[in-house]
Formats: sequence, structure tokens, C-alpha cells
Amino acid sequence: MNFYRIAPSILAADCARLGEEVSAVAAAGADLIHFDVMDNHYVPNLTFGPMVCAAIKPYAAVPVDVHLMVEPVDDLIVSFAKAGADIITFHPEASRHIDRSLALIRDQGCQAGLVLNPATPPEIIGHVLDRLDMVLLMSVNPGFGGQRFIPHTLEKIRQTRALLDRYQAQSGRRIALEVDGGINADNIADVAAAGADTFVAGSAVFGADDYAQAIGGMRRRLAEVPQAG
Ligand code: DX5
Ligand code: ZN
Repeated sequence: MNFYRIAPSILAADCARLGEEVSAVAAAGADLIHFDVMDNHYVPNLTFGPMVCAAIKPYAAVPVDVHLMVEPVDDLIVSFAKAGADIITFHPEASRHIDRSLALIRDQGCQAGLVLNPATPPEIIGHVLDRLDMVLLMSVNPGFGGQRFIPHTLEKIRQTRALLDRYQAQSGRRIALEVDGGINADNIADVAAAGADTFVAGSAVFGADDYAQAIGGMRRRLAEVPQAG
């Protein structure tokens, strides 16, 4: 497994050819398929449900990373686990009982994560670290692809990395740190240097003519970043 993982978001793919797009991006070197679920309630946009997840699953040679931007979350956790999700993350504001929703994800056999919006403080993860496999920091406000990376996210990545490193020193368990929104070959090295290890990229991958070249370009930038962990 690569230390740094690139997770193309199919939000930017050609939805009329989703299966082909998913196999193409996996063949081009993606580590994860990032699957953005929006409900027009928690966020002002509407995308894919579990049916579409189950439909693309056979085309995904790599794990499917389901990012739930929905409220409430619990019923959909079960549906997406059945539809082949490997990782499920949700926004803490969207669940009445964060600890219970996280436990539910693991009970369904998936890896679990919380997603923090730009204004959500990292400390919110403090009491649920044992339940987390991943933390996802939004570097844009959720709801749309193609937005600009919010620069002060870098500071939040550093703070969150420090918190996760302290936890790793006590527990011996490493929690992945993913960043989502506005990532491209020009800023990915800064995001990695701040402490992220998993990078969602929608338009930067699917907007390119050659997916392998787009992913390869990001990997070359990542190769120059000194690895902390
Ligand atoms: C935004 C989504 C992102 C988005 C990223 O709400 O969670 O995953 O698709 O797209 P880009 O890389 O274009 O910002
Ligand atoms: Zn996302």
C-alpha cells in the first residue's frame, strides 16, 4: 500500500459512463474511489445513493471511500455498507449520536471516519479516537466540486496531525488523515507536508485528459515531501 493515497472523487467523473470512469481511474493508479453522497438537506446538492455505489463496486479494483454529506446518517450507513463501501465517513453535525454512528460503521465491517467542515474544530474527535480509522478535513465547504482550497486548512491539518500523533504514541494505532476539496498538483505537497496522507481530488483528476498523468503528477510532488510517519 502506498503511504500517500490518492482518492479521485467521482463527483467530477462523466456520470453517463460511471463504471468505465471508475475502472479507468483505478487502472490509472488511484488508491481509493471517493464517493460523494449529497442529500439536498445537509448540503445543497443531490448526488448518488447506495444503488449507484453497488453498481460501480464491480468496476472499483480499489476500496470505495464513501463520504456521507447526509442527515441523518445511520440508515444510510447500513445501506452503503451493503452496497460495498469499504470506508464510510460522516459529518458530526449530521448525527445525534456520533459515538453510536461510528460504532455502527465498524459493526457493518467498514472503516469509520468523521469529516470536519472548515469551521468545525479538530477537538471534536477527542473522545472518539478509538472508534476512528480516518479523519477527513474539508478544505472547501461541502456540496460542490471544483472549489478553491481554503488556505487556513493547512494550519488545521497540522493541529489534527499533532493530535493523531499523540494518540498513536499512546495507542500504537495510526489514524489516516484525509483532506478533501480543491487539491491539485500545485498544492498537494503542502497538504502532505502539513500532515495529510490521503488526498481527495475530483476536478484535478477527472478534468484531465490523461488520468494516469494527472495522478502520476501528484505522486511525483508527493515523492518530494519528507515522510513524517
Ligand atoms: C465536496 C466533495 C469533494 C469534491 C472534491 O463537497 O466532498 O469530494 O468532489 O472535488 P474537487 O477536487 O474538484 O474540489
Ligand atoms: Zn468528498
